[in-house]
Amino acid sequence: MTQYIGKPLSRVDGLDKVTGKAKYAGEFNVPGLAYGYVVSSAIAKGKINHIDTRDALRLDGVLQVFTHENRPKLAWFDLNYKDQDAPPGSPFRPLHDEKIKYSGQPVALVVAETFELARYAASLVKVDYTVEPHETDLEANRDEARKPKLGVASLLKPPPPKPRGHFEEAFAESPVQVMEEYVHAIEHHNPMEMFATTVVYERKGKLTIYDKTQGAPNSQLYVSQVFDIPFSDVRVLSPYVGGGFGSGLRPQYQLFLAVLAARELKRSVRVTLTRQQMFTFGHRPATIQTVAFGSSFDGTMKAIRHDAIAETSQFEDYTEIVVNWAGMLYSAENVRLTYELVPLDVYTPLDMRAPGGVTGLSAIECAVDELAYKLGMDPLELRLKNYTDRDMNEDLPYSSKELKECFRQGAERFGWAKRNPEPRSMRNNHTLIGWGMATGIWDAMQMPARAEAVLMVNGKLRVSSATADIGTGTYTVMTQIGADVLGIPVEDVLFKLGDSDLPLAPIQGGSWTVATVGSAVKVVCEDLRKTLFKLAKKIPGSPFAKKSLDEVEFINKSIRLKSDPTQSVSLQAVVDSNGGRAVREISTSFPNMLEQRKYARNTHSAVFVEVQVDEELGTVQVTRAVSAIAGGRIMNPKTARSQIIGGMVWGISKALEEESVMDHNFGRFMNHNLAEYHVAVNADIHDLDVIFVEEQDTIVNPLGAKGLGEIGIVGMPAAIANAVFHATGKRIRDLPITLDKLL
Ligand code: MOS
Repeated sequence: MTQYIGKPLSRVDGLDKVTGKAKYAGEFNVPGLAYGYVVSSAIAKGKINHIDTRDALRLDGVLQVFTHENRPKLAWFDLNYKDQDAPPGSPFRPLHDEKIKYSGQPVALVVAETFELARYAASLVKVDYTVEPHETDLEANRDEARKPKLGVASLLKPPPPKPRGHFEEAFAESPVQVMEEYVHAIEHHNPMEMFATTVVYERKGKLTIYDKTQGAPNSQLYVSQVFDIPFSDVRVLSPYVGGGFGSGLRPQYQLFLAVLAARELKRSVRVTLTRQQMFTFGHRPATIQTVAFGSSFDGTMKAIRHDAIAETSQFEDYTEIVVNWAGMLYSAENVRLTYELVPLDVYTPLDMRAPGGVTGLSAIECAVDELAYKLGMDPLELRLKNYTDRDMNEDLPYSSKELKECFRQGAERFGWAKRNPEPRSMRNNHTLIGWGMATGIWDAMQMPARAEAVLMVNGKLRVSSATADIGTGTYTVMTQIGADVLGIPVEDVLFKLGDSDLPLAPIQGGSWTVATVGSAVKVVCEDLRKTLFKLAKKIPGSPFAKKSLDEVEFINKSIRLKSDPTQSVSLQAVVDSNGGRAVREISTSFPNMLEQRKYARNTHSAVFVEVQVDEELGTVQVTRAVSAIAGGRIMNPKTARSQIIGGMVWGISKALEEESVMDHNFGRFMNHNLAEYHVAVNADIHDLDVIFVEEQDTIVNPLGAKGLGEIGIVGMPAAIANAVFHATGKRIRDLPITLDKLL
């Protein structure tokens, strides 16, 4: 019985967000707040000889300028400490010493009575550097590629599997071959909300911190470790997050700087980064990928190769899963996958929506299209020909995989059968029309999490967990789960998140939040059900005295007998019988690893796209796109659709527009603002259609939901590139497909 799960409930936090009542990290005001402004390094590599802060400090109202020269001694990072998304290596330490490791590195924090004064004073800080030569160009350094270091992070981001069969021989013997190199631009997350931290300096030096983060406990752990403060003295809150996309998976340097300043000055401090500074702490890394398919004349893939070279920083080995996907998706017997890193003088790359997945699939699914053309075969037919119900890398069955049905429904909705495969065969005056398609795949992960459920004295339900809602609909879906398990209308359910005081949950990422926190919410609400039922049995004259839990149902704020619905006890009566005290449970849910390890657990998508290319101007419009998604059970079709639409929009943006341009002379991103870093706007978005092909999956987690945060983007860029080829006959293997590449 589900009354609330699966319903298109509007966001419970929507009103607060559109009315401005929802406060973000940089909007919490307290008396006596001081403001910090960051001074960023003008060079990419070298060292600071001296920082002259005299002119800044001379200004009335400037409180202090913090640099590596005057910062306090710190605990820094315990040897074992890693933030929850830290790759192997040594996390960046702001203001640690005189060394400059990347352009834009924070070198000083000016703190003043007002933001404007801090900003002006920052312009007066003079930094004297010794410049050393830097390397920031992946292409120029590709020969330096080496294997990544392994670490704890490798559990979630496993290195490529060992080769299967013999790629070289099988490829050489294949009568039809494709081998091409694919590259793409670096991207920055650019959430609307700027990174900010407001540190409220409480009595006895306790800290209440409003931080922009995808995991309040992650920031709490960081502050506690770096500053050697007991957990209990650090509370981190992030009730609302104005977009994350992965940028908030790691504590960022404004958190460090704000805490440092607050502790030194013994007053509340806020540090807000500028849009330019949003380009100084992590990005989707550049990769150079080689994809090869060897096939027989009938389209049977015999050999697959996918090699990726990616950039990382000099201090951490950031990795993502770029190359494993081809070996999972296609059933070839000879597969070789490699992934290597080139350390450069840049900040460590950072997970960005479908990290690695959208990068790898953009190349793989373009190469599949190229193979289809060489074979003279429909690209959908080629994918079906090599379809597999097993993850071929691990030789495991999928817990569920309705990709075939996605192909069928997506193709039908789009009208794929009417496609003439000939490039340049459809036009409307000077506009060329093209149709392309691609497959998407992402993980369906579950982590351990804790949650609390309280039936309050007023009969309302409060459920909580220290997770985040980065715009994904977490508040809403968790509310639905609580309502469902306890039969309480959603209006009477309050879900709380974004507070390190709440029961522990992991960072919100990897599309795992519904599976992870949702499972914890389900478990704790079921535990509360048991407790409430026990109490109900004890009420004098209870109709349940001799009944068991499976003989009753929780519905409309009461417990009633399934066999005789007139026999019921209201939840209010249960609370009242508890001496007027709230009834509380706290529980932990763990993934069922023993069962889960026997299966590959993934989401899939089939993406169909129409583009119109202006032949004279080289501009591309995605006029129509259909994504058919196999993502397990859909908890809320409205928020689910929003997730997929968001991914599709970003897919368009990535395929056609987004590009962080570095001038390697300076080792610096030059278009660090939203005027020059182009993202898709309303005028770029036309008809987007989403189909959910539901899957019954009892393996992935108790809810059967697989997570939808990332599957929406993965197939889009390749589908667009393939449609552009169909329209123009030009194969662009370098994203984004800007007009200069088509003219
Ligand atoms: Mo997502 S890149 O795991 O926030």
